[in-house]
Parts: sequence; C-alpha cells; structure tokens
Amino acid sequence: MHIFLTGMMGSGKSVVGKALSKQLGYVFIDLDKEIETKSGKNISSIFSEDGEASFREKETKTAFELNLKQPSVIATGGGFPLKESNRIWMKKLGKVIWLKASPKVILERIKNEDRPLLPKPIDPGRITEILNTRIPIYEQADLVIETDNLSAAEAVNDIIGKLQ
Ligand code: S3P
Repeated sequence: MHIFLTGMMGSGKSVVGKALSKQLGYVFIDLDKEIETKSGKNISSIFSEDGEASFREKETKTAFELNLKQPSVIATGGGFPLKESNRIWMKKLGKVIWLKASPKVILERIKNEDRPLLPKPIDPGRITEILNTRIPIYEQADLVIETDNLSAAEAVNDIIGKLQ
C-alpha cells in the first residue's frame, strides 16, 4: 500500500512526506519534482510556456508512469486530485491523506515561494477561493490531518497513529 499526500500548496506535503517516508522506511516521491525532471523545465515555466492544461496532462502521465515497485509516500501537487481519474488511481494503489491547512497558514508558508497559481504579491483571498473550490475533493481522502498547529514530526506521528 502506498501513501498519497494531498492538499493545497503550502500544506506541508513535501516536508511531511519526506519525514513520513523515513519513519516508515518507504521511498519518497515528490510528483512536482518528477514532472520537472521529466520535462526538463520547472513548474512555473511549464505553466507560462505550455499552459495549465498541458501541465495537468504531464502531471497525470508522470504519476501513472511512476515506478511504484516499493512501498512509497507520494507528495502530489495541490491540483492533482481534481481529476477523477487521478483520484481513482490513488485509491486503487493506496491510502490518500489530506494535509489540511488554513489559508492563513498556507500564506505564511508560501509567501516567499514561486507558485504559478498564486503570483506575488499573493492575494490572500485567492488562496481561500482556490481552497473552497477544492474542499469537496480533498475531503474524499481516507484520512484528514489538521496541520495548522503541528510540526512535521507531529504530523507524521498523527498519520502513523491514525493509519493503524
Ligand atoms: C498546484 C500546486 C503545485 C504545483 C502547481 C499547481 C495546484 O504543487 O503542482 O503549481 O494546482 O495547487 P504544490 O501543491 O506542491 O505546491
């Protein structure tokens, strides 16, 4: 069984995912990084040069072609679960965990980072808008972890406790 971490940009999928994989002895895969390696471009360039639709195609293709022979923790991009086929694929291969974070915490975590959907200066209202449209989708996860007041280590413990 693999573990898929879902949630908004800045919800801690990469940091928590790395720590979780270490604790479990699983392989860690960051889907955004895999897309970047495969296409030879960073995510921002894919969005600006090829458009979001092309990014979404690459995202699904890269995921479906992942080598998942060993148990793995996969940090997905925030928009990955939006496609039904991606959700079905995750559920078929493992457990889906939503790392839930509030817009305020998300803003704090990503204000100095590059996210094509949230150009700088980041409009806090836009984070809420995106999150609200995605909540019904993220809620379909097998497990929800409230990360606002948790360190990465605490989130890992919470996940491991709830998975048992
Ligand atoms: C996106 C999230 C990003 C990246 C792309 C689109 C989204 O990944 O895939 O910018 O639609 O929420 P992170 O969630 O890892 O930031």
